[in-house]
Amino acid sequence: MDQIIVRGNGPLHGEIPIAGAKNACLTLMPATLLTDQPLTLTNAPRLSDIRTMTALLQSLGAEVASLNDGTVLALSSHGLDNHTADYDIVRKMRASILVLGPMLARDGHAIVSLPGGCAIGARPVDLHLKALEAMGAELDLRDGYVHAKAAGGLKGAVIDFPVVSVGATENALMAATLARGTTVLKNAAREPEIVDLAQCLRRMGAQIEGEGSSTITIQGVQALGGATHPVVTDRIELGTYMLAPAICGGEVELLGGRIDLLAAFCEKLDQAGVSVTETARGLKVARKNGRIRAVDVVTEPFPGFPTDLQAQMMALLCTAEGTSVLEETIFENRFMHAPELARMGARIEVHGGHATVHGVAKMRGAPVMATDLRASVSLILAGLAAEGETIVSRVYHLDRGYEKVVRKLRGVGADIERIKEPADA
Ligand code: UD1
Repeated sequence: MDQIIVRGNGPLHGEIPIAGAKNACLTLMPATLLTDQPLTLTNAPRLSDIRTMTALLQSLGAEVASLNDGTVLALSSHGLDNHTADYDIVRKMRASILVLGPMLARDGHAIVSLPGGCAIGARPVDLHLKALEAMGAELDLRDGYVHAKAAGGLKGAVIDFPVVSVGATENALMAATLARGTTVLKNAAREPEIVDLAQCLRRMGAQIEGEGSSTITIQGVQALGGATHPVVTDRIELGTYMLAPAICGGEVELLGGRIDLLAAFCEKLDQAGVSVTETARGLKVARKNGRIRAVDVVTEPFPGFPTDLQAQMMALLCTAEGTSVLEETIFENRFMHAPELARMGARIEVHGGHATVHGVAKMRGAPVMATDLRASVSLILAGLAAEGETIVSRVYHLDRGYEKVVRKLRGVGADIERIKEPADA
């Protein structure tokens, strides 16, 4: 297994290109299942999660060609000949459940294994299933699989989600495009990835209104057609790299960055003493004079502070002046990076959904273990500003969500390399 070695070496300068959003691409790809016409996605990120979704779609009989060095995905589901999403693929990635709504909507039946994914809490799929049931699906949970049927097709419904769920909103939105009549999604997720999905579905011929607000209305149509759609910028990759100059000092331009994708996060950076300015090509980020100031953070659904940037923000606050409190409201087990950061000298106390971070002047490099996707990159960020060498193990988590992380950080002057783990380690 590979390791990443980081040595703190001062301020960073230069530019980092930001890729298309993993989480948008993972919901845009299953949209191919809604039509027998070709769907082309441009600005796709090159990540292992995308390869997992490719394998899943191919296992169903869809064609997925990766073009232009992986940044263009040409998808076609005209030859769909299998409606069972197997445990062996689904267990690798929770987003696999997103094939359920589209297959059911188009062909009236689907069997999908219950998913796995990052170990950051229980993460059930009950909201996905209830939404599809409300549209008339008959569901049966047997042997770890959801057996779904909608003999006469799905029908429009009013679905009021008790909790905001990105994935359940996406599954219901896709399914509703082919349901008979009108579907209204209330308390829908408002994330930019949902807006991106709605825009793509509209290009395919769907009738959708209200995406980006908490009520989305979908008028079902008979069939959807092909489309070409560019994947929206990855706001989590963007926020992660914005934190690099915030932690190390210097000034970095994030190409393709937009403040509207991360307004709550940018506000916290400003309070902490980090300047963010819009440029013609993206965002420029620099640390203002002096030490980072402590700030309190509460994770919330969009437009609030994203849970997917909580670990990275903690890495910044470890060396802030004063005490910060981070409250995690989305996932119940998402502070696994805290003990690893503590190995590097951070002072963090975790009580349930709260982490209290007492800022220290300097962190020290240490061997640490990546526990999930966002935790792994938080350890790299902390290592960039620490004294000495940080060795991050289990970096396969990183490959799920960050393309070319070593090359991107080296490009702005970071001392970082990826090595094969020594055999006796
Ligand atoms: C998506 C993102 C993930 C991000 C998360 C929250 C993708 C591929 N992943 O995950 O990176 O951290 O949004 O922004 O887009 N819940 C239920 N029942 C359900 C579904 C969800 O109780 O059926 C709960 C979850 O346990 C969690 C909360 O709802 O507490 C939000 O989860 P959700 O928004 O669904 O996250 P994902 O779509 O899995």
